[in-house]
Amino acid sequence: MLDLLSRLSPYDGGAIFSLTARLRSEGWDAAIVAAALTQSRLRAQAQHKFGSRADRMLFTADALEQASRPDAASHHAAVFTAAGVASLREVGAGIGADTLAFAESGIHVTARELDPERAEFAAYNLRDHEGAVVEAADGLADITEDGLWADPARRGAKGRIINPEEWGPPLSAVLAAARTVRVAGIKVAPGIDYSHLPPDATVEWLSSGGELIEAIIWLGIGPPARRAVLLGDASLTIPGDPSGPAAMVDPAPLGEIIYEPDPAAIRAGGIGALCEKFDLAPVAPGIAYLTGGPVSSPFLTGFSVVDVLPLQEKKLARELKARGIGSLEIKKRGVDIAPDVLRARLRLKGRTSATLVLTPLLEGRRAVLVERLPRS
Ligand SMILES: C[S@@+](CC[C@H](N)C(=O)[O-])C[C@H]1O[C@@H](n2cnc3c(N)ncnc32)[C@H](O)[C@@H]1O
Repeated sequence: MLDLLSRLSPYDGGAIFSLTARLRSEGWDAAIVAAALTQSRLRAQAQHKFGSRADRMLFTADALEQASRPDAASHHAAVFTAAGVASLREVGAGIGADTLAFAESGIHVTARELDPERAEFAAYNLRDHEGAVVEAADGLADITEDGLWADPARRGAKGRIINPEEWGPPLSAVLAAARTVRVAGIKVAPGIDYSHLPPDATVEWLSSGGELIEAIIWLGIGPPARRAVLLGDASLTIPGDPSGPAAMVDPAPLGEIIYEPDPAAIRAGGIGALCEKFDLAPVAPGIAYLTGGPVSSPFLTGFSVVDVLPLQEKKLARELKARGIGSLEIKKRGVDIAPDVLRARLRLKGRTSATLVLTPLLEGRRAVLVERLPRS
């Protein structure tokens, strides 16, 4: 299969039937043609995650979807390196995306994967790294290493699995294994309920480009804390037991600017820290839009307030029409309105574009017309 795969030109979905027929007429076995074309298609799909490196890797469709992004995997490796971990057990290697980052950081990693096909592909993907051993075996058995990394499977036949005890392996089994090593990291769903987090852990939420990517439960890297990490940029640490509730901050009247905090800062319970540091406050109780004067933080996207409009369809349509607004970006928190439905019902026709923030304020639900501020 690898021989044929290496001879194929870049994947072209429209040419599959003719290509299959040509390869069969050249004498290639049907199963080998199907496997090579599948890998060619998956390599093309994997470009967005792995760039040109994808052309030297093997994937399954599910394992590609579940694989860690290289920038996140590098972060995982950097935390282990900073903690002085030299030998690592990996539980659930998939096709080896995290394993590659560990091996490239000079960590000796024993990567175990229960699924034999994924294990075979991970071994292929790690073929140039002597410090990585891939085994098709239970990652939770016979742990002798200094550190442990686990990325439990969180998707099943019916889609996303919410209950951590139904992950593969279950979170409690991974935590028990994690307690047997010096330093452990467990990748978990970013929306995980705080009650599942060990009180003594440092828990990180990773985001990139405003998108929340994952959370990691770290044991053995420092005092209990929650931390928001903007990959390749900045981090914000909130000390204390991560399984407790996030600190609530009193709201304040709408000021000249509305700030949208990065989702990692919100999930890490960093609203209180941001409000304290920059003298900001939520626009309403429990709402993660903050308001105040001009400040600059990688964790905050600012919008200057242009006008506060009633959140009533007819009045809003009239106001937007009077301003010649034909294209509308709608953001919302704390109101049960579907932006696409509202946008369609407003029947906008003007030539200018605008941003509308639908939110409760202290005086009630409003549509706040705003202008996005440039990032400083
Ligand atoms: C989310 S994927 C891992 C993806 C991987 N981190 C990557 O970046 O490519 C989880 C994997 O754990 C494997 N798995 C589940 N239980 C396991 C166990 N007890 N030992 C080893 N692997 C296991 C699954 O087969 C699945 O491939």
